[in-house]
Amino acid sequence: MNIEPRSFQLFPDSASNFAGTVDGLYLYMVLISAFFSLLVAFLIIFFAVKYRKRPGAPVPPPINDHSIGAMILEIAWSVIPLGLSLVMFAWGASIMFTESRPPKDALNIYVTGKRWMWKIQHLEGAREINELHVPVNRDVRLTMTSEDVIHDFYVPAFRTKADVLPGRYTTEWFRPTKIGDYHIFCAEYCGTKHSGMIGWVHVMSQEDYNKWLSAGSGEGSMAEEGESLFRQLGCGECHVRDGHGRAPSLRGAYGMIVDLADGSHVRFDEAYIRESILYPQAKIVAGYDRIMPTFHGLISDEGMLKLIEYIKSMGDPNGMTLERSGPNEPANLQKTGPQMSPESEIKAPTTAPRASAGTGKQQ
Ligand code: CUA
Repeated sequence: MNIEPRSFQLFPDSASNFAGTVDGLYLYMVLISAFFSLLVAFLIIFFAVKYRKRPGAPVPPPINDHSIGAMILEIAWSVIPLGLSLVMFAWGASIMFTESRPPKDALNIYVTGKRWMWKIQHLEGAREINELHVPVNRDVRLTMTSEDVIHDFYVPAFRTKADVLPGRYTTEWFRPTKIGDYHIFCAEYCGTKHSGMIGWVHVMSQEDYNKWLSAGSGEGSMAEEGESLFRQLGCGECHVRDGHGRAPSLRGAYGMIVDLADGSHVRFDEAYIRESILYPQAKIVAGYDRIMPTFHGLISDEGMLKLIEYIKSMGDPNGMTLERSGPNEPANLQKTGPQMSPESEIKAPTTAPRASAGTGKQQ
């Protein structure tokens, strides 16, 4: 890594698809504000001098403020600023809408905030701390959560940031346009070392990125590790793949709309998977009993992300399975999953989450 201190810069680097449009809007707002501030200041001084009280000068008659001229003036100074500020509104809203909708085929990377570091995990298995390697000219989507308090993932050179919240998944996306190293900041005050919760994004060519990925993947992919967790927790005993188990099959479920017992519907996404694992009674799938025990306190946030990736990899209905080096057939439960410190993923593996499984009440 070769990062040298840079000389003073008025603006951060422009290194993503958002940089140009965000800077354009910023410049527009600064120019409008500067123009009107100077205009008002100039008129105050100009009129104060021009209409100052002179000895012997006659007192002018009062102004008729119901004249046509006064009305035209008032309409002009209401409508013109209204138009100018509506431009700010529409421009800003359009940027916000684009930034809040990650493209479907974006490269997904998981970020977990923790006082005071950023833990980053690639689907292929590579993990890093306070560093994020991404390929240039490729849409990247970050799915983020926090282990403790609210943080905020901010990359000034990309002109994008988003809050990172405990117990929820938020996303942010960008397309890096320039190879280089860029600052990551935490932009939400999160405690004594908030200012030290920083890191670097390394934007690399696709070729270097592939090299970096393969060099760093000593461990299995996230989906493989999730599969191994899935087995250790005994999830497969109820969530049978053919759909004839005591619990719904998870195959191809990701992204679908699920019918619930109370007649409502929910999208089977990251948030729903997480909620169902931690609070299984919250949303019961229609036709199934309330038998699932909670796994609250038994799975770490990182373990949760791996389970989610495994569930996502179980036959995506859109044919979009793992993009690279993912298991083609994760159904093969005989396969030995990579044994990577399961203790760290499962807290207290012997407390029986299944103890209450037999006592499920009828809906
Ligand atoms: Cu994390 Cu400030």
